[in-house]
Amino acid sequence: MKKLFFLIPFTFFFLILPAQKFDQLAKTPPMGWNSWNKYGCNIRESLIMGMADAMVTSGMKDAGFEFIVIDDCWQVSRDENGEIVADKERFPNGIKALADYIHSKGLKFGIYSCAGTKTCAGRPGALGHEYQDARTYAKWGVDYLKEDWCNTSSQDAKSSYTNMRDALYAAGRPIVFSLCEWGSNKPWEWAGPIGNLWRTTGDISDSWNSMINIFSQQKDLAKYAGPGHWNDPDMLEVGNGRMTTEEYKTHFTLWCMLAAPLMAGNDLQNMTPENKAILTNKEIIELDQDTLGRQATCYRDNGDYQIWIKPLGGNEKAVCLLNKSDEKKTVLVDFALLSQVSSGRRSGSTSLKLEDYRVRDLWDHKDLTLKEPAIYIDLIPHSVKVFRFIKK
Ligand code: GAL
Repeated sequence: MKKLFFLIPFTFFFLILPAQKFDQLAKTPPMGWNSWNKYGCNIRESLIMGMADAMVTSGMKDAGFEFIVIDDCWQVSRDENGEIVADKERFPNGIKALADYIHSKGLKFGIYSCAGTKTCAGRPGALGHEYQDARTYAKWGVDYLKEDWCNTSSQDAKSSYTNMRDALYAAGRPIVFSLCEWGSNKPWEWAGPIGNLWRTTGDISDSWNSMINIFSQQKDLAKYAGPGHWNDPDMLEVGNGRMTTEEYKTHFTLWCMLAAPLMAGNDLQNMTPENKAILTNKEIIELDQDTLGRQATCYRDNGDYQIWIKPLGGNEKAVCLLNKSDEKKTVLVDFALLSQVSSGRRSGSTSLKLEDYRVRDLWDHKDLTLKEPAIYIDLIPHSVKVFRFIKK
């Protein structure tokens, strides 16, 4: 009988210990750098260390970027015990040494895996090795895991990602969990309790059409995002060379309006001053990192011309005008009206009194001097204007 009493608390403890994701992670959208968009499989230790150095020296770290994530192709096989094996030629000191180096720079380290048998580039996947891999990642000091969705044949997405979530939790190291199943199974509907971010679409590429098309697909997803659980419209292409500076400004602004994870994907060691200025625009980043954690909603959609509103903490808000067209547009913008717009209970944007606020242009870094509440504004092709209503 005594023994039985002794066992009860333990049994109870295990019964109530819920499998869950780590609390307190990614309270604002994760910010960092990922190797895939620019380097694909062509990654090696020296390159990744160089990116960590540049993250610090370029001012990106000061602007809030913290994760350095190696994407596909760091792994080559499994050993006789099923342990994942890193490419020894490309990572001669092993992954733990790389993680240690990144940590020594005050940054965090992320890695890539895949829920299926193989990754998208044909490297070993996590299927059947979730708990083993999670323990390995914890041992190496991994802070962020992106898990892809290739070679999953008939696997169920929700249970596959739940399995990895539980494995990470059991391994005991808080690791931000990024689901990368391309929106195929509407992860926004079920992934909140599983991961910290989930891809909502297929892959981005470095072109205006790809970027703006992905942006358009985020329109109905605002209600699913919030602190600890974000819609991920994929990583940034800013600085990769195939969009104009204006288009990169638009790309970056829209991602910040969406409260999207900000994973730079360019060569941080060789940034033009223009691209650096885009990626480190703190006033724009503040929109993304606002602690209210609301994704912008579309207030007016005139096709090529749209107005997006993002509610911010402290009863402030951001308004973004977007010209998607190939022609210049001149629009009459009524700030008194915009201040009053409450974009619905769901998005939490409230009606403000214009006289209590100043209106700041976040690219010009200037407050507007509004002689009249409505003014004409020029929008060049593929551009944005973004304003913040700041309490006086
Ligand atoms: C894709 C994923 C990309 C990248 C690539 C690696 O499925 O969406 O972001 O990770 O796999 O092979």
